[in-house]
Amino acid sequence: MSGRRELPLMRHSTSAHSLRNSRITIAIAVGIFLGCVFAFFFPHGFFLSNPNFHSPHLSNSIAQVVSTPCESSERLNMLKADFAAASKRNVDLKKQVKELTEKLRWAKQGKDQAEEQVVVLGEQHKAGPFGTVKSLRTNPTIIPDESVNPRLAKTLEKVAVQREIIVGLANSNVKEMLEVWFNSIKKVGIPNYLVVALDDEIANFCESNDVPVYKRDPDEGIDSVGKTGGNHAVSALKFRILREFLQLGYSVLLSDVDIVYLQNPFDYLYRDSDVESMTDGHNNLTAYGYDDVFDEPPMGWARYAHTMRIWVYNSGFFYLRATIPSIELLDRVANRLSREKAWDQAVFNEELFFPSHPGYDGLHASRRTMDFYLFMNSKVLFKTVRKDANLIKLKPVIVHVNYHPDKLPRMKAIVEFYVNGKQDALKPFPDGSDW
Ligand SMILES: *[C@@H]1O[C@H](CO)[C@@H](O)[C@H](O)[C@H]1NC(C)=O
Repeated sequence: MSGRRELPLMRHSTSAHSLRNSRITIAIAVGIFLGCVFAFFFPHGFFLSNPNFHSPHLSNSIAQVVSTPCESSERLNMLKADFAAASKRNVDLKKQVKELTEKLRWAKQGKDQAEEQVVVLGEQHKAGPFGTVKSLRTNPTIIPDESVNPRLAKTLEKVAVQREIIVGLANSNVKEMLEVWFNSIKKVGIPNYLVVALDDEIANFCESNDVPVYKRDPDEGIDSVGKTGGNHAVSALKFRILREFLQLGYSVLLSDVDIVYLQNPFDYLYRDSDVESMTDGHNNLTAYGYDDVFDEPPMGWARYAHTMRIWVYNSGFFYLRATIPSIELLDRVANRLSREKAWDQAVFNEELFFPSHPGYDGLHASRRTMDFYLFMNSKVLFKTVRKDANLIKLKPVIVHVNYHPDKLPRMKAIVEFYVNGKQDALKPFPDGSDW
């Protein structure tokens, strides 16, 4: 709390006594109202989530008002009276309060708080000579906020390496795949990975296998999904859970459990983009983008329309830097999945790629497609690589069995082939699935 200073009101003569009283009453009322409004809209504290707001005068007292529920009314009244008095005294502070009120108004209109996070990226520059300019794709990381989840913060302090971590979500439906998953990670010697256990069975299973595990609090309402949910329900949950990791200042490599690790992925990341993702594409064109020409002969001279095509990013294996655009992406996807019955991977890609247009503000996140031979999907492996004498010699970083429903036997075969050197381990499987 800021020190008790002489209030300007105190200097008035006793003849202004009643005026003073009523002013104080109004000040207290305004204070309580603002306090409750802040507490409602910013339950985790307003200033904690806005690193660009600096008010050494106000931040202390307001932060306390915000973090205190309207319970200890005496103390609260003191704080609020302080706040009200301080804001009266200082034109500069008044301006800030006005800004706050403005922000509250936006919040009321349902606008995303992240929208107000204007990251100032330094001064203006001259462009420089031809061929030397590069736009910004590596956004600054956020200021970690441990108050979001102190227990998770403690866990991450122990297991993360350079504020990076592999995160896998699992319930007991995927227990057998999870076992292949973490055994492959252990074999490579990757220390920084964590299983988010969605039920007790998985939590115990991880503990008994010395696998770093984080069990969410049972009172976190969204978790009923995790216990009973199928693949897609769990997929929606992950976007909410990942947000906490990023808010705590950790960059996350989200990993489905139908993935076999053959090398350490952290040795193969570029870390220059908000989102770095594996692709569902199977060659240079489909993975990295191409001009798909649409032909409409009746148009004559203009029969060819050029279109931009890219196979979707795989929402089961992607790396997010702890930046505002990454968090905005998670929020946008989670928000849409809570309103529509949609496939999370489709929503993930739409949010990531559709540009702004009338009535719609697109996400501005920088993106990088991972090398599809290093971060390999199972179509690439079974359709192409296993039949190619050169490609089969290269060891991928991971293989994701995303294109085939018989995941477990294919995962085991991949381990047999790449880890145990069993040359014919991949042979029994058809290219696609037999339905
Ligand atoms: C795909 O792209 C890589 C590098 O971008 C290149 O070396 C390779 O030859 C390309 N492959 C084909 C089939 O075009």
